[in-house]
Amino acid sequence: MSVSIKENIITLDTKNTTYQMAVNANGYLAHLYYGSRLDGSSAADCSMLGYHSLVPLAYDGCSSELSPDVCPLEYSAYGNGDFRTAPLMLSFSDGSSVCDLRFEDVKRIEKKPLLKGLPALHDEAGKSESVEICLKDKIYDLRVYLLYTAFEECDVLARSVRVENRTGGDIVLNRVLSTCLDNYECDYDFISFSGKPNYERSLNRIPLRELKLSCESRRGTSSHQNNPFVIFCSKDCSEKSGECCGAAFVYSGNFTASMEKTQIGTTRFVMGINPENFRFVLKDGESFQAPEVIHTFSNSGFSGLTHNYHNVIRKHLFRGKYADAPRPIMLNSWEATYFDVNCEKLLAIAKQAKKIGVDTFVLDDGWFLGRQSDNSSLGDWFADEERIGCPLSRLISGINELGMKFGLWFEPECISENSILYRNHPEWVLQAPDRKGMLGRKQWVIDMSNDDAVNAIFDMMCDILDNNNIDYIKWDFNRYLTDVYSCRLPAERQGEVLHRYVLGVYSLLEKINARYPDLLIESCASGGGRYDCGMLYYAPQIWASDNTDPLDRVNIQYGTSFCYPIISVGSHVTASPNHTTRRNTPLLTRSNVAMAGTYGFELDLTTLSDGEIEILKKETEFYKAHASLIKDGDYYRLTSNNERYIAWQFVSEDKKHALAVLVQTRNNINYKPIIRRLEGLNANTKYRVIIDGAEREGEYTGTALMQIGINLRTIKYEGESTRIEIEAI
Ligand code: GLA
Repeated sequence: MSVSIKENIITLDTKNTTYQMAVNANGYLAHLYYGSRLDGSSAADCSMLGYHSLVPLAYDGCSSELSPDVCPLEYSAYGNGDFRTAPLMLSFSDGSSVCDLRFEDVKRIEKKPLLKGLPALHDEAGKSESVEICLKDKIYDLRVYLLYTAFEECDVLARSVRVENRTGGDIVLNRVLSTCLDNYECDYDFISFSGKPNYERSLNRIPLRELKLSCESRRGTSSHQNNPFVIFCSKDCSEKSGECCGAAFVYSGNFTASMEKTQIGTTRFVMGINPENFRFVLKDGESFQAPEVIHTFSNSGFSGLTHNYHNVIRKHLFRGKYADAPRPIMLNSWEATYFDVNCEKLLAIAKQAKKIGVDTFVLDDGWFLGRQSDNSSLGDWFADEERIGCPLSRLISGINELGMKFGLWFEPECISENSILYRNHPEWVLQAPDRKGMLGRKQWVIDMSNDDAVNAIFDMMCDILDNNNIDYIKWDFNRYLTDVYSCRLPAERQGEVLHRYVLGVYSLLEKINARYPDLLIESCASGGGRYDCGMLYYAPQIWASDNTDPLDRVNIQYGTSFCYPIISVGSHVTASPNHTTRRNTPLLTRSNVAMAGTYGFELDLTTLSDGEIEILKKETEFYKAHASLIKDGDYYRLTSNNERYIAWQFVSEDKKHALAVLVQTRNNINYKPIIRRLEGLNANTKYRVIIDGAEREGEYTGTALMQIGINLRTIKYEGESTRIEIEAI
């Protein structure tokens, strides 16, 4: 049983963790504990801080230790003396923003509810347990429902918040964050995954000091610049040891995540929709559902945290056929032909792709009405026969006859000035009165808060998908949101547009998923500009970055791996020199790096020699033979990303198979790399070790591999890589 409610203490246990809270003498819901499993103990005794707050004194004549100024709280509202970042800030119809939330009620919920209109962890098997706690303002009938679900096996706790207005008047929500974690300690490092286009999700570790640290997006999407996933950890936390706590936001729009140290050495962590330009009007009787945050706690370092996230996302966030089915290997046309989508050329590439063992041929940008370059046609989702050189259906049957499936690129949320859609519906563009919207990649964003626009895009997409044999779509989004204004909404509701935009995107994704349950969707936003748990609910893989140079990609994939399962990482072998960086790298390194992902190709295969085609055929066979290890196995980072080489490893659940890869990212020519420690093997099992296809003589026990490691006995030059297969004998 995960949930226990005893007297005033509410506890949620998972296999290795405990989360505990209590209703204190003031009626506040206090946070007691989140950490290693307590096995029935109560943290209540040690939660008294021994600190007396001067301003303000506690309400109701209670001990000042319980003052909202110092007491660790589960959730609080602005205006009642909690001077930390209060997760809720609103104003009532009388203009007052004073709100004082006290415990009202708690109930156990058997099956985890889904969140209306929002992505969230699901639990069809009904194995998780949830608890819903109602807090109520002391004066007004304003209720806040906190939902907690314990995913016992994955050591994960999901949290979300719903605000219900029963006050009899309108309220305005200025800030509704989804989680608040008040920790009794402050000796933490804060880790974010930050970057920019082509260099997404670079790990950034900062010690927490006196000032508040925050990480956020205000670009309308989760963004290239900051990922909605953060970690705070003990100072000594490393891959294998130390304590860490993660927070992954199941949302694809603006977010904030911050951590602040308080006057008494405790800390507050919050995460949720970014309050900037957020102002949501809630009429009497209405509720606002804030998105979910997925927390995990690990006392076995970052690798434990990563395993928990990978497991919960694979089992409880992915949905549909591809939650479990092997992912097809793609050939994507973008870096092969760009806008030159000629049927003959595409079929010639497809023939080579078939030789290699590709499953799905994907026609990227350039296939629709008049789309010769990126300055027109977005919104006109009709196949351009003239550009393709034959009807789309003929191209698709050509691909199908070769024995491959077909996939197509869309950018549903954008619109070009030069498009029929814009000429018919200029009002569907996000732009403010009397201002022409700012262009980004020569395009505007569609007002996805407008159902009519969403339905029109849906109909166009259905027309293509109903009339053609399409098994995959790439869902791209190539700019950020500016000119955030919807002509559909009244002035006082413009602060809702950013959130309603995200809800509109989700509703379109949901409609497509519901109508085409076997369709695989891969999302993309100029590479990895919207890599988040929200998108993964609808699209179980994401194009990780437009930078496919393996020596940059390893860093992007390193950061991505902390939260997101390897099988969610869209990753392709591309040409050398690389089109983005001009760097030359060996074919096998490009392949090894793409294998830490969905694997596929994105280059003109007709330019490769027979020998190179033969190599890629063998590589594809290798990937397919290891597909379930890569998809379902435990992933370990064997090095950090700032050494001269980077290495990682997959281990099967039964520990009989493992695969490790090392990439030399910088020269170190006096040194033959030794992978110091492998991970996750059975100590007493004997393993066969095969390095780059050749069996290494000698006996290797799990202990030897994990304690001594493997000496590669050969110098690796910058850009070279090695693959080590480990099989139980
Ligand atoms: C974006 C994507 C690319 C490609 C192009 C097409 O840049 O990230 O993969 O699809 O758009 O225009």
